[in-house]
Amino acid sequence: MSRAARANYREDVAGRANVEDTPELLAYYDQLENLRAGALWTVANKIEPWQPQSSSVPVLWRYQDLRAHVLRSAELVSPEKAGRRVIYLNNPGRKDVAAAVGWLYSGLQTMRPGELASAHAHSASALRFIMEGQGAYTIVDGHKMTLGANDFVLTPNGTWHEHGVSAEGTPCIWQDGLDIPLMNALEANFYVVHPDLQQAVTHPVGDSTAIWGATALHPVGHTWDKGYSPLFKYQWEPTYEALSRYARVTDGSPYDGVIMDYVNPLTGGPVMQTIGASMQMLRPGEHTKAHRHTGSFIYQVAKGQGWSVINGQRFDWRERDIFCVPSWMFHEHANASASEDACLFCFNDLPVMKALGLYREQALAENGGRQAA
Ligand SMILES: [Fe+2]
Ligand SMILES: [Fe+2]
Repeated sequence: MSRAARANYREDVAGRANVEDTPELLAYYDQLENLRAGALWTVANKIEPWQPQSSSVPVLWRYQDLRAHVLRSAELVSPEKAGRRVIYLNNPGRKDVAAAVGWLYSGLQTMRPGELASAHAHSASALRFIMEGQGAYTIVDGHKMTLGANDFVLTPNGTWHEHGVSAEGTPCIWQDGLDIPLMNALEANFYVVHPDLQQAVTHPVGDSTAIWGATALHPVGHTWDKGYSPLFKYQWEPTYEALSRYARVTDGSPYDGVIMDYVNPLTGGPVMQTIGASMQMLRPGEHTKAHRHTGSFIYQVAKGQGWSVINGQRFDWRERDIFCVPSWMFHEHANASASEDACLFCFNDLPVMKALGLYREQALAENGGRQAA
């Protein structure tokens, strides 16, 4: 580290590193560097900040700006050549790891009727949230499911999966969400292309939903020993209906309005080991209070319009826009309509934060709990 950079990280606080450079120390640092070593006090304040310092910045990706470019990718490259024809969301602070925020990747994928992508498996846990089009389907380990707008689909780590659009369908666009950057950070990422490029459908179409999709009923005689949910598709209609029913009997969360987690029906826990997801409803005119927590969050506007204030910056959103909330940044959400509800789909790395004992949350105390934007 240069002398100026070192000086920047000195802190005149008891218990923190505050060593001034001397000719003798500088010579000593050089000797250590030659031995592939260093003095901790030259970097300690940098590598152990007082609180999480996200290098991600809050970003809103407007669908109306991106949509034409996403569709254009279908004219420019084939799914065969591209592998996956995706325009990924590139956070200015996370370009080095191709993350949309924190350790989460996200992108917009398009497919035309009759197209299909090759089957593959990877260590990253993945999900899709359908944005538009008819006829999209996904096959996960031989289980095929058809997909419509606002449906949420899992392709968990290690599963064979492939996507396509039926010949009678229309061009489709969906959002992909994966923890690729986390897998790479953990140096645990594997990727395999299916030996036959395609997999056989070995179960009745839609069986995952038929078996595991009834909220309060568990099928007798069906067992499951995987670490992720056996329910791969969470349909929009029952999700919205559940939120609407819940909204009638709850005040909701002061920070999120009426919010429900998508869960593994067997455990009540997160849908996958490393990625959690939720859908929340902001009632007409609702404006939540601000809080912050550890973890990285990516939202897609499933319905309505409004705004969010993230780290003091206001982002106005409408249906299909995507935005991110980096770790430990204050955020609040508002529905701009006085008559219609607004719904936000969200996926996040909360299961990782919680499993590692790293989850922390704090309400904004000042200003009546709202940020000045
Ligand atoms: Fe994949
Ligand atoms: Fe939050």
